Amino acid sequence: MIERKIRIALAGIGNIASGVLQGIEYIKAYENKKDFLLHPTILGYEVKDIAIVAAFDVDASKIGKDIVEAIFAPINSTPKFVEIDNYGVSVFKGPVLDGLSDTLREVIQIAEGDPVDLVKKLKEAETEILICALPSGAELAVKAYAQAALDAEVAFVNCTPTLIASNPQWAQKFKKANLCLIGDDLQSLAGGTVLHKGFLEVLNEQGITIKDTYQLDVAGGLETLNTLDDDRKQYKRKVKERTIQDATQNNINIASGTSDYLEFLGNRRIGHFWILGEGFMGMPVKIDMRLETLDGPNGAATLIDVIRATKLAINRAHGGPMTSISSYGFKAPPISTNRYTANQRFNEYIEGVRPV
Ligand SMILES: NC(=O)c1ccc[n+]([C@@H]2O[C@H](COP(=O)([O-])OP(=O)(O)OC[C@H]3O[C@@H](n4cnc5c(N)ncnc54)[C@H](O)[C@@H]3O)[C@@H](O)[C@H]2O)c1
Repeated sequence: MIERKIRIALAGIGNIASGVLQGIEYIKAYENKKDFLLHPTILGYEVKDIAIVAAFDVDASKIGKDIVEAIFAPINSTPKFVEIDNYGVSVFKGPVLDGLSDTLREVIQIAEGDPVDLVKKLKEAETEILICALPSGAELAVKAYAQAALDAEVAFVNCTPTLIASNPQWAQKFKKANLCLIGDDLQSLAGGTVLHKGFLEVLNEQGITIKDTYQLDVAGGLETLNTLDDDRKQYKRKVKERTIQDATQNNINIASGTSDYLEFLGNRRIGHFWILGEGFMGMPVKIDMRLETLDGPNGAATLIDVIRATKLAINRAHGGPMTSISSYGFKAPPISTNRYTANQRFNEYIEGVRPV
């Protein structure tokens, strides 16, 4: 009989981690709400099959706490959607490295003591998938977790914009070890990027020539505070702008990214979109739009699908970069496609009619 449990570890117990943990418990409490996911079940895998077995962070307000207490630490802004009993899974201190930007260091106190041995903890917990949800721009720390996944022989899902799945050297390492690698930069289910790309794709298909476009966000979560650090902001912007560029046919003016941190918005993200195009006989086509969502549930809705698809890949003994899963759930996958193709390939992979 196939093992139904999907044993995941989370690195970074921030808003995405809160969204995933609460998402699992929310579906357990309100079974009928699973239809809000794109894939209520994935080849028999239910949301309740996901089990969080290990957790890592560096924040003193989270280390040593049960993961359920840690996700509700005041510094996380994802609201409480459901009451949850403690899991009995403590948050361990991971390696700090460049995990915290200067702006995050102003509000996060690093826990005292040495970091744990990641590989040992991953193995002890019998982890199958390590989810990396560290702040953007934490290159060294993300790579340390990717290496730990390799050494502990577990699959690696990279929610951050650091290029791992799209980096040929890392892809090769995971391929050689026959371990699944998925990423990079999680794409929220109904987020700014997916909508922006969608509008541009439709306009392109209808023969409109896009001239200029931007999607600029303001938000109040920790990740937005992180991107007040200029290097990190530019890093994240580059990844987003490349994604948008892929959705257009011309060399156009593009700006896409977070423009400011407004603490009082909490977990809310407000995106402003502008598209200027030209149609038949020079007709101007303009779109000016505003989108408001919550980061935690929006990212978790994608990740919960990705986790279950990754378990299928593990059952199938697939390894290396999982291109269909990555194109479906991430902004910078190894193979970039339009949303329609990405969704189609993901479904074909689940059905077993696509190799990776
Ligand atoms: N909807 C979304 O939330 C969304 C969408 C797309 C991409 N992402 C990406 O997912 C990642 C996580 O987003 P988030 O909103 O959960 O971020 P967050 O800032 O809320 O949480 C990050 C967590 O990582 C911890 N951390 C920092 N350094 C660490 C280290 N060295 N080891 C372990 N933990 C460490 C922080 O203390 C914090 O708890 C970001 O890179 C973001 O760009 C999120």
